[in-house]
Amino acid sequence: MQHKPKRSRALALPRSECRSRATEYLDFLAAWVSKPRQTASVVPSSRYLARLMVEHINPDDGRVLELGGGTGVFTRAILGTGLPPEKLEVVEINPAFARGLRRHFPQVSVLETPAQIVSASAAGEPGEYQAVISGLPLLAMDRQMHADILSESFRMLRPGGGFIQFTYSMRPPVSREILDALDLDVVRVGQTVRNFPPATVFRFFRKGE
Ligand SMILES: C[S@@+](CC[C@H](N)C(=O)[O-])C[C@H]1O[C@@H](n2cnc3c(N)ncnc32)[C@H](O)[C@@H]1O
Repeated sequence: MQHKPKRSRALALPRSECRSRATEYLDFLAAWVSKPRQTASVVPSSRYLARLMVEHINPDDGRVLELGGGTGVFTRAILGTGLPPEKLEVVEINPAFARGLRRHFPQVSVLETPAQIVSASAAGEPGEYQAVISGLPLLAMDRQMHADILSESFRMLRPGGGFIQFTYSMRPPVSREILDALDLDVVRVGQTVRNFPPATVFRFFRKGE
């Protein structure tokens, strides 16, 4: 009897999914070529990293803000928690990525604005958000930008809310001086090698919470 060769998991992906992943990678590469510091990676994050980024989201617990949506890897994972799409706003400064996010997630608000001034455009009130999920390239940004992004995010976060950030380093991407000045603290959520490059996830929170 003739044995059929086993198909690998990658080959078993439906053809339409392979095509959309390939497009996602090409879009990301094009963004990196035109704006390397703003995009800061040649490939989108993996779904393993996305899973770590969203593990604290409670779908019944109100609004979530995502910063630096890119091609939507974290957006998909946030919606995968069961959060209603109208409770999610995604901030993305690159117009081509913003267009793609609107096409893929028509029920989600996409705010084409810099993350450091997001409170001017957000639909929710300050103090109403349970989490900020950040894909921003903090390692490519200066200290003033770190302070502006964290201040703006914690203006939107309610008591007990957290700012979740990944980084390609083992250490938090924000200095202790800035955290102390803003009265914030940080803990490591986890790490994954199933991402290129391997990544660590941190949760920033108000001191004493
Ligand atoms: C490293 S990519 C991450 C994309 C996606 N979250 C992922 O993990 O695959 C950083 C994203 O942040 C966006 N970005 C960079 N600076 C920004 C800013 N100041 N405000 C809003 N988005 C920004 C870039 O355009 C890019 O899409």
